[in-house]
Amino acid sequence: MKIALINGSPKTKNSASGILLEDLKSHLSQKAEITEIKLQKTFIPEEIAAELKTMEALVFSFPLYVDGIPAHLLSCLIQLENAHWQNREIYIYGIVNCGFHEGVQAKYALEILQNWCKKTELIWGGGIGAGGGGGLANMPSTKNGHGPKAPIDKALQAMADKILQNKRQKNHYVSVAFPRFLYRIAAQIGWRQMIKANGGKTKDLGKRPEEP
Ligand SMILES: Cc1cc2nc3c(=O)[nH]c(=O)nc-3n(C[C@H](O)[C@H](O)[C@H](O)COP(=O)(O)O)c2cc1C
Repeated sequence: MKIALINGSPKTKNSASGILLEDLKSHLSQKAEITEIKLQKTFIPEEIAAELKTMEALVFSFPLYVDGIPAHLLSCLIQLENAHWQNREIYIYGIVNCGFHEGVQAKYALEILQNWCKKTELIWGGGIGAGGGGGLANMPSTKNGHGPKAPIDKALQAMADKILQNKRQKNHYVSVAFPRFLYRIAAQIGWRQMIKANGGKTKDLGKRPEEP
């Protein structure tokens, strides 16, 4: 079975989207021919678009941006609407990770992808909304069903089973098994470190952009 795992995060390394695809791959790779693709620009090269059309399943993994799909990825999806799909028996799955703790924040982004399937007449296979994406890069891998990533890994395992059987699933929302209040504290420490590392000041974190 030919499956494309598509990372739609603009990050060049350590993206949560990539980590989730690696986990999904570990549940698929024995039984499937996997092609890994990164979409970081606003267009898809013709050869990549052509390759996508030869797949039996496409899995889009991307971050939630302002409750929706990152603009560069949306632009790629619009390009793909006009890609002259001859075989429309291709299953489309979505994995949307978000900074908020609650995976359900990704509901509308998954619905946008589902709507794209209506437009392209490809088959919507369902998705996962994963909360706590901001912490995924720093969390250990799931061992024996334990650890903070375990609920997400369980959802990925279930999705892998559906993909391999050409089946659909309902959208499924999960979060990291890490207390919400601690996740928020860790995020706030992270933002402070990040702004300092980039030459800014912590007091500027709450600053609103100036009116144009
Ligand atoms: C421009 C921008 C907009 C974002 N909007 C949201 C949002 O609406 N809701 C949310 O929960 N997280 C939001 N986030 C956080 C990202 O979804 C989160 O950091 C995610 O884990 C990044 O995934 P990646 O590492 O795969 O790029 C936003 C991040 C950026 C940079």
